Amino acid sequence: MTMNKLDKFDLPSLDEARKRKKERFKVRKDLFKIPDLAKDIGKGRHYYLRTYGCQANVRDSENIAGILKELGYDETLDLNNADLILLNTCAVRQNAEEKVLGEIGNLKKLKRQNPELIISLCGCMAQEEGIVKTILRKYPQVDLIFGTHNIYHLPELLYRTMLEKERVVEVFSKPGEIIEDLPSKRFTPFKAWVNIMYGCDKFCSYCIVPYTRGQERSRDMEDILKEIKDLIAEGYKEVCLLGQNVNAYGKDLGMEEGFATLLEAVAKTGIKRIRFMTSHPYNFTDHAIEIMGQYQNIMPYVHLPLQSGSDTILKKMNRRYTSEDYKVLFDKLKKAIPGCAFTTDIIVGFPNESDEDFLKTLEMVDYCKYDNAFTFIYSRREGTPAASMEDTIAPEVKEKRLAILNKKVGEYAHLANERFLDQVVEVLVDGPSKKDPSVFSGYTKENKLVNFKGEGVKCGDIVKVKIVATKSFSLDGNLLKE
Ligand code: SAH
Ligand code: SF4
Ligand code: F3S
Repeated sequence: MTMNKLDKFDLPSLDEARKRKKERFKVRKDLFKIPDLAKDIGKGRHYYLRTYGCQANVRDSENIAGILKELGYDETLDLNNADLILLNTCAVRQNAEEKVLGEIGNLKKLKRQNPELIISLCGCMAQEEGIVKTILRKYPQVDLIFGTHNIYHLPELLYRTMLEKERVVEVFSKPGEIIEDLPSKRFTPFKAWVNIMYGCDKFCSYCIVPYTRGQERSRDMEDILKEIKDLIAEGYKEVCLLGQNVNAYGKDLGMEEGFATLLEAVAKTGIKRIRFMTSHPYNFTDHAIEIMGQYQNIMPYVHLPLQSGSDTILKKMNRRYTSEDYKVLFDKLKKAIPGCAFTTDIIVGFPNESDEDFLKTLEMVDYCKYDNAFTFIYSRREGTPAASMEDTIAPEVKEKRLAILNKKVGEYAHLANERFLDQVVEVLVDGPSKKDPSVFSGYTKENKLVNFKGEGVKCGDIVKVKIVATKSFSLDGNLLKE
C-alpha cells in the first residue's frame, strides 16, 4: 500500500492532541446510542478482549465489554472461537507496543482460516499517528482501529466494519466531551475501578499519556458519588478512584481542594475500602493528607511515583518537584497515616542520566524504603520533548542500573513485609487459589497480597488473618476464627 492510499483515512495527530482548550468540557449523558442497523449484530457471535497497560485501560475494557454485551455478543477466552478480537493497547513504553505488534502478527493465521473474523486495535496505541500508519501498511489483518475518545461509537464502527467490509479507522485526536452513559460490565465482583478524571495535563517530558488520553477533565462529583452508591447497593466493598494524577481532581471545575473534598465525600458514603491511583506529588495537598488520616475507610496506602531522585533529572523530566519536596511530602504522609504503605515508579536511564544522578535515586529509595517499586528503563516516545534530547548513555549501563535498583527495591520490599510477621491483618478475600481450594488470597489494607488457609470463606468477605510467614511480594497466614 502506498502513502497516498492512507490519505483516505483520518489519521490521529500528536500535534493536535497536545493542544488544550480553555472552556469546561461538556458532560454528555445521551451520547451512547445503538443505531437500529447495529442492533443485535453480536447475536450468536463471540468476542475476545485483551487488555494491556494501566487501570484506565482496564476500565475502558469494562465499558467495551458492556457495549458488546448490549450488541448481543458473548465473551470467549479462546481466540479460536472468536468472531471479534479486540486488543486494548498501551503506548507507554516501546516494549509494550512491540508485544502488541507481535500478537497481531500471530493473529494473521486465524484471519486466513476465518476471513469473517474481525480484528480490532484500540486503546493508547491507536492514538499514535506512526503506529496507525504502520498498521494500515503492514498489518492488513487489522480491520478496525478506534481511539480512546471513540469508545462510545463502537456499535456503529463495528457495523461499518462488518457490513461495508471496509477497513475502518476512527481516532479523534482530542476528547470531545465527558461521556457518562456508557454501558459497563465490571470484571471483578467486590472491587471496582471508578474514574474520577480523564487525561493528563502534566506533560512529563518522557510521557505519551497526555497525548493518548487528552486534556485533564474531571467528572462531576455527583456522578462519581452516584456511581459509588450504586456499587455499594450491589455489594461492592472497595473502590479505587482512578486518574493519571488524582490529586488534580476538580481543578478544571474550579475547585481548590477538589481531591480532598471528593475523598471526604466518598469516605462518608460508608464504602468499606477506598483506594486511589495515581498520586502526583506536585498536587498532593495538606488537606488531602488530613482527610486520609481522618477516615478509617481510606486505606493506608499511597502510590507516589518518584521517577528520579536527582533534581537535575527531575527538572528535565518536567516533574515540578525536587527530591526535597518529595521527602517533605513523604514524611507528612507517614506521620499523618500510621503504618501507611508506599509504592513508587522509577525510571532509570533518562537521557544523559549520570552515575551521580542514579546514586541520588538509590539514596531516595534508602530514604523511603518503599514497600515496592515499579522500575523501568527509559523508553523513547516519538512526539514527546524527551525524544529529541541527546542521550549518550549505553544500553548496558542502563540495564546494570536497573538491576542494582531492583535488588535494592527487593530488599526493602522484603523488609517491609517482615513487619507483618505474627500480626493480625484484615483481608478482603478475592477467592480460593486455583491450585488448592483450601487456600484463599486477598489484600490487606496496605495492599499486601496474603495467601491464607481457612474454611467457610467467601469471595468479598473481610476476614482477620494471622501472618505466619513473609516473602518479598506476599504474606502467608491462617484465618482467625472470630
Ligand atoms: N500518571 C501516572 C503514571 C502513568 S504511566 C503518574 O504520573 O504517576 C506509569 C509509569 O510508567 C510512570 O510513572 C513512569 O514511571 C513510567 N513511564 C512513563 N513513560 C515512560 C517512558 N517513556 N519510559 C519509561 N517509563 C515510562
Ligand atoms: Fe505521564 Fe506525567 Fe501525566 Fe503521569 S503525570 S501520565 S507520568 S505526563
Ligand atoms: Fe498505557 Fe495508556 Fe495507561 S499508554 S499506561 S494504557 S493511559
